Amino acid sequence: MTRAAMKIGPVILFGPPGAGKGTQAKRIADKFGIPQISTGDLLRENVEKGTELGQNARQIMQRGELVPDRMVCDMVAERLKDGDCERGFILDGFPRTVTQAVWLDNYLVENTVFDNANGTGAAFVLRFVVEYNALLQRLTGRRTCPTCGRIYNVHTQPPRVAEVCDLDGSRLVTRKDDQEEVIAERLKAYEAQTLPLVEYYHKRNRLLEINGDQPVDVVTAEALRAIEHGNSL
Ligand code: AP5
Repeated sequence: MTRAAMKIGPVILFGPPGAGKGTQAKRIADKFGIPQISTGDLLRENVEKGTELGQNARQIMQRGELVPDRMVCDMVAERLKDGDCERGFILDGFPRTVTQAVWLDNYLVENTVFDNANGTGAAFVLRFVVEYNALLQRLTGRRTCPTCGRIYNVHTQPPRVAEVCDLDGSRLVTRKDDQEEVIAERLKAYEAQTLPLVEYYHKRNRLLEINGDQPVDVVTAEALRAIEHGNSL
C-alpha cells in the first residue's frame, strides 16, 4: 500500500519548544497526505485575524504561558470536524496538559471515524528528545516564512539567500515568542504542565521516543518508520 493510501489515525508529536515538532509535522503530513494540526499555528492565525479567541490568547502567548485548556480544546474540536482528517492527522503542540490529553482520548472514543491501523482509534505519541542547550540555539535561530510556513534556522538550516524563503521569495520572520525571556517561560511551562504527559502516555503504552538531536532527515526517517510499523503498539 502506498503511504498516501494508508490509514494512519491520530499521531501526536510531543516535545519541548524547539524539539522539531513543526519541522517534522510538515514532512510527515506531506508524506502521508494527511493534515498537520498545529495549535500554535492556529492560535497565531487567530491572533493575526483579531478573532475573539486571538484577542484572549495574544498576551498569554506573548508571556510564554499556556492558553487555557477549554479554549484550545474547542479550537481543536472545530478543526477535527474537517473532512481531511478521515485517514488521520498529525497533532503538533497538542495535547500539552493532562486535561487536554484526557479530553482528546474521550473525543477520539466518541468519534470512531478516526480508527487507526490497530482499530482502537487511540492516538500514537512520538516524543522528540533534545538536549536543553540545543533547544535554546534552535529557538533563537529560527526563522519562518509567513507565506508558506516553511521553517528555517540561521545556524543549522539557513535559506539560500539570507532572510528570504527558498520556495516563494518571502521575507522571513522571527516569531515574537522567540526572544530569550519568553523562551525561558515557555520551557518552564513545558516542564511544569506538559512533561507529566510522558507518564500519562507511557502508562498507556502509547509513547515512542526518538532522538531529536540528529539531523532533520534522520529524525524524519525514524518518525516515518515508527508511524508505519509502530502504531499498532
Ligand atoms: P507552538 O507554536 O506550539 O510552539 P512550541 O511548542 O513552543 O514549539 P515550537 O514551535 O517553538 O517548536 P517546534 O518543536 O515546533 O520546533 P521547530 O520544528 O519549529 O506554541 C506557541 C504558543 O502557543 C505556546 O507557548 C502557547 O502559548 C500556545 N499554545 C500552543 N499550543 C497550545 C496548547 N495545546 N495548549 C495551550 N497553549 C498552547 O524547530 C525549531 C528550530 O529548530 C527551527 O529553526 C528548525 O529549523 C530547527 N530544527 C528542527 N529540527 C532540527 C534538527 N533535527 N536539527 C537541527 N535543527 C533543527
